[in-house]
Amino acid sequence: MLDFSGKTVLVTGGSRGIGAATVRAFASRGANVAFNYNKNYRAADLLKQECEKFDGNIFFMECDVSAYNEVELFLKKMGDKMENVDILVNNAGIWIEANIDSYTVDMWRKTIQVNLDSVFYFTTLIARQMREHNTKGSIINISSTAGQVGEKNYSHYAASKGGIISFTKSVAQELGPDGIRVNCIAPGWIETDMTEAIMKTNKSKIKKMMPLGFIPEPQDISNGILFLASDMARAITGEVLNINGGSVLCG
Ligand SMILES: NC(=O)c1ccc[n+]([C@@H]2O[C@H](COP(=O)([O-])OP(=O)(O)OC[C@H]3O[C@@H](n4cnc5c(N)ncnc54)[C@H](O)[C@@H]3O)[C@@H](O)[C@H]2O)c1
Repeated sequence: MLDFSGKTVLVTGGSRGIGAATVRAFASRGANVAFNYNKNYRAADLLKQECEKFDGNIFFMECDVSAYNEVELFLKKMGDKMENVDILVNNAGIWIEANIDSYTVDMWRKTIQVNLDSVFYFTTLIARQMREHNTKGSIINISSTAGQVGEKNYSHYAASKGGIISFTKSVAQELGPDGIRVNCIAPGWIETDMTEAIMKTNKSKIKKMMPLGFIPEPQDISNGILFLASDMARAITGEVLNINGGSVLCG
């Protein structure tokens, strides 16, 4: 089993879904884990309690990842409790359905701010910290299949997730000489709160898209994150790891 004892991990949007699976995955492997939540204090507190049975420290705080001042404050408070970050997982995101005729400027901005601006905010601040402390860190950004092949009725979401991929590939070149690796994971359909409504009506159709015959779970994504964060991936940077049950193979 991979061991992250002594490492400090920061997961954005960690209180539920893929983020919560990631917090559990690192905490259960000995890491100190910090995560932010957005409004749902109860879920965040329960997750903290669950993870406190492991050896590492757990820190959480409310933080709107789309607000730079809140991100700075989060990192300051986190810095009072924990060592410098070794592994950053930019996971927080939103997915609002709207086609090209119905989406508004506000919807567009909100999606880009939460999904893409946040990745820039955390990456730039943490990369600075990693460089100052000579940390050979790993940054993992959660993109999406939509960022590669597009997604009807979610063009603003697809644009934000495509932006994450090109940002990742660019920053990987800048930070590589400092030993900092930057990669993406692109999940396909995963059953979480984000997809709850669509799963209610379309689950069997979605399942049929999977050559493997099952819809991947949050833990399938956190497994990929663990791999990319580990020394097993020491030669991998600027890459996109697709975890989608093979759904894209079927069009
Ligand atoms: N579920 C899927 O099918 C799927 C597919 C591809 C990519 N993804 C991506 O995976 C990531 C995790 O999504 P999920 O499926 O676990 O969904 P989710 O809705 O369960 O989790 C999203 C997380 O982001 C947080 N968040 C949203 N807006 C925020 C804000 N302004 N400030 C702080 N936190 C905020 C939420 O609180 C939550 O913890 C997202 O980036 C999403 O786009 C999900």
